[in-house]
Amino acid sequence: MRSHEWWQHGIIYQIYPRSFADSNADGVGDLRGILGKLDYLSWLGTDAIWISPIYPSPMADFGYDVSNYTDIHPVFGTLDEMRELIAAAHARDIKVILDFVPNHTSSEHPWFKEARRSRNSEKRDYYLWHDPAPNGGPPNNWLSVFGGSAWEWDEETGQYYYHAFLKEQPDLNWRNPRVRQQMYAAMRFWLEQGVDGFRVDVLWHLIKDAEWRDNPPNPDYVPGQAPYNQLIPAYSTDQPEIYPIVKEMRSLMNEFDERVLIGEIYLPIRRLVSYYGTAGDGAHLPFNFQLITLPWNARQIAAAIGEYEGVLPPNAWPNWVLGNHDQPRVASRIGLPQARVAAVLLLTLRGTPTLYYGDEIGMRDSVIFPEAIRDPQGKNIGISRDPARTPMQWSSATNAGFSTAEPWLPLGHGYEHCNVEGQTQAKDSMLTLYRRLIELRRKEPALCIGSYRPLVSGGDVIAFVREADTGNRFLVALNLGPRPALLPLDTLGTGQVVLATESRRESERVSGRLVLTGDDAVVVRLD
Ligand code: GLC
Repeated sequence: MRSHEWWQHGIIYQIYPRSFADSNADGVGDLRGILGKLDYLSWLGTDAIWISPIYPSPMADFGYDVSNYTDIHPVFGTLDEMRELIAAAHARDIKVILDFVPNHTSSEHPWFKEARRSRNSEKRDYYLWHDPAPNGGPPNNWLSVFGGSAWEWDEETGQYYYHAFLKEQPDLNWRNPRVRQQMYAAMRFWLEQGVDGFRVDVLWHLIKDAEWRDNPPNPDYVPGQAPYNQLIPAYSTDQPEIYPIVKEMRSLMNEFDERVLIGEIYLPIRRLVSYYGTAGDGAHLPFNFQLITLPWNARQIAAAIGEYEGVLPPNAWPNWVLGNHDQPRVASRIGLPQARVAAVLLLTLRGTPTLYYGDEIGMRDSVIFPEAIRDPQGKNIGISRDPARTPMQWSSATNAGFSTAEPWLPLGHGYEHCNVEGQTQAKDSMLTLYRRLIELRRKEPALCIGSYRPLVSGGDVIAFVREADTGNRFLVALNLGPRPALLPLDTLGTGQVVLATESRRESERVSGRLVLTGDDAVVVRLD
């Protein structure tokens, strides 16, 4: 595996810091909390942690509204504690990836406060200001992801400013070279602190149409979907001028050893892969969200894997994501039995896996009563992300061992039964399945860096072969449905089950054909 970089053979674990572990009894997770759980992460087999934003922020969007890019919010700790966390993680061979939020600042950022002072402010052009349309309304029809117009009227200076998200999150003007320099300086600051990479927030949003043309209506819009989807964001996102920017970010990363540039990008596969750049000069890993966005259906998922493998540019490294802080949890979306199948898929596909905290114990979306909703998206458009952001369930103790104080979001229902402590030793727990899958993947080059070959299957089955240079081969077969299925093995020969969602199958010999019960996934070492 020396032939590959750590971010190719490793596993990334996303921490939502408010909800991971609270060390100082204020009900909100913090850096010391994470520090105290590094041994757990290392036991699990994590190679890197990506931490959602920990910068100073008024928390209108829980940290995705940054008011200072080069410091730590006191609720999470201090810069010294961040340095301590980086050192402690590195001592365990765990890399640290920060969330970087370049598309917008907080409206409380000193730049925006200065920019809105007057039209002549020297920071005015850091943001996107526009005169009203002739009728006095917003300059165009663009919508905010969080509901309503994306334009906010500024009474003082008589212009609108653009915000793709909350009005408390004004978009930066990435056509302004000074903005670029400032943001690159902030990235450099963290790289110099020893941070191993960035997950760049909404990378495909950074540049907007120079002529501010109206977005076209979306003919496929179905009422009940987020109102933002009423328009196709053809002019407000994914503009060609984004590529030179990604390239600049990449060359900054290249000045340092072994750093990774990850982009948060929700786009169709063919558009997504363009963010790899043309000659290895783009993002290392444009996040691939297909396992989240597609219906959990074998035919569609197999086709998507095939399409992705087919359109990856030469030398581009694939990646797969199963959950994050913006999406319903996998165990709630597809049910617990299939969440086990999904774990096998995530950890046997070719490409870097990213897993979301709590999914390794099968945490489910929690019920959050309307009066307890914290997420601004939930408050504004009724699609709350809080259910997937509840405190990590460490044990059956008070507050699930997350905090000694009342947590900032209610605990998941049933944490007494679904927690790390209870699952650590249990042979058939989700946690044991994850830990063993990760262990197998780390041990077997075929599974972590080997080639991928799909097998023809049908119905609810997905099957493929992973093969190392040495000729070591594994068959992976997954049943995405509840009914039993039979997979003919044709020329594959014989083998032995080494890992399965039902552990009693392990060490079973396989020859000629493979029987899968409902909701079954197996990894077979081929002879
Ligand atoms: C990204 C983040 C999300 C945030 C939004 C605005 O999609 O993942 O949590 O609300 O950007 O920054």
